Amino acid sequence: MNILLIGSGGREHALAWKLAQSPSVEKFYATPGNPGIAQHAELTQLDVTDHAAVIVFCGEKDIDLVIVGPEAPLVDGLGESLRTADIFVFGPDKAPAQLEGSKGFTKDLCARANIPTAAYVRTTNAADALTALDDFAIPVVIKADGLAAGKGVIIAETRDQAEDAVNDMFDGSFGTAGAEVVIEEFLTGEEASFFAITDGKSVVPFGTAQDHKRVGDGDVGPNTGGMGAYSPAPVLTQALQQQVMDEIIQPTVDALAAEDMPYSGVLFAGLMLTESGPQLIEYNARFGDPECQVLMMRLESDLAKLMMCTAKGDLTQTSAPVFAPETALSVVMAANGYPATPEKGGRIRNLGRAERTGAKIFHAGTAEIDGSLVANGGRVLNVTALGSNATEAQAIAYAAVDEIEFDSGFCRRDIGWREVAREASAPN
Ligand code: AMP
Ligand code: GLY
Repeated sequence: MNILLIGSGGREHALAWKLAQSPSVEKFYATPGNPGIAQHAELTQLDVTDHAAVIVFCGEKDIDLVIVGPEAPLVDGLGESLRTADIFVFGPDKAPAQLEGSKGFTKDLCARANIPTAAYVRTTNAADALTALDDFAIPVVIKADGLAAGKGVIIAETRDQAEDAVNDMFDGSFGTAGAEVVIEEFLTGEEASFFAITDGKSVVPFGTAQDHKRVGDGDVGPNTGGMGAYSPAPVLTQALQQQVMDEIIQPTVDALAAEDMPYSGVLFAGLMLTESGPQLIEYNARFGDPECQVLMMRLESDLAKLMMCTAKGDLTQTSAPVFAPETALSVVMAANGYPATPEKGGRIRNLGRAERTGAKIFHAGTAEIDGSLVANGGRVLNVTALGSNATEAQAIAYAAVDEIEFDSGFCRRDIGWREVAREASAPN
């Protein structure tokens, strides 16, 4: 089959690397791609907000399947436009993509389908939001409803902070994403990510992971898109995964189907493992980044086939995805200044030598300029390793990190700390 992959990050490099291993893939295009993706696919420059142009390209190149990496084109309805033009797509239509595009949409769906999640109120103006705050204990969570590049969530530790967050959002600090604000009960517990693939009817689990959102070691400093991840997340035991499927994922898929907006693609559930059981924090309509990188390191099944079956609504026709039992761990190397203002253009050397440790390096934000590899984004490289446990995967990943010359970059040195600590206290 001929495929077109949309995106330019480490997530898409990991997808491209895995897709290139599928025997069924013939012509493979990516837009806009990056130097890592270019090792596997022919890069092309398409304006993905111009749905007609993407459809024309698919016609010219005989594309059988379009795989949408990031959320913005999904929330913008690209999936739907392509489906309407009879092109198979991995990724949901516009209406079900609201699971990521509107926090209020997801919360209302949870309420209708009785899915465990934090108590909440949706508000459309500051006065109502300030009144609603009276019903919540402190800390309280204030969220811009729409897409805000992972930045639209404020955990307010005082009433004053909560009021400031509400006022800032309605004053436009997150643009149109903050035109509506969700106020939520603060949940406590350990966070974990759960993935499932669905064609709108059938659902299969697709692995677990844990991310590290804060920029600094010990989980301090500002939130980022994710500084590193590992998979599996053993904190999500088989019993808990079953509970998540039964109480959260399946009811979501069923509710969307019953409401005539079936969800096709990957569902990425951010969970809080509370004392009373797993609760949904948020949904994403795509793979996580860098969670995708660790999932792809472990995936043994044919990804192109799985995605095509999903897109065709034939998920039951393919065998359940198989993952290696090992642990994959990915360390994000970011450009100095990330997440605020990352420095561009820093030279990167020695990736080949670094990969001789056994690690795989995915390009997240790189560019090739005059034959040299340079930083071209906040998150630049994802140094990813597979080991018999998190301790071993972490050692390999950091051995590779230490070989890389990237003077204007940095990384956290403690990715996987929770799991490494658990392994140290419970050997074997
Ligand atoms: P989100 O963008 O919805 O994933 O939120 C970003 C982060 O905010 C999550 O990863 C959690 O750490 C935190 N968060 C969001 N909602 C809640 C909540 N209701 N209770 C506690 N923490 C939350
Ligand atoms: N790493 C978190 C995300 O992709 O949303």
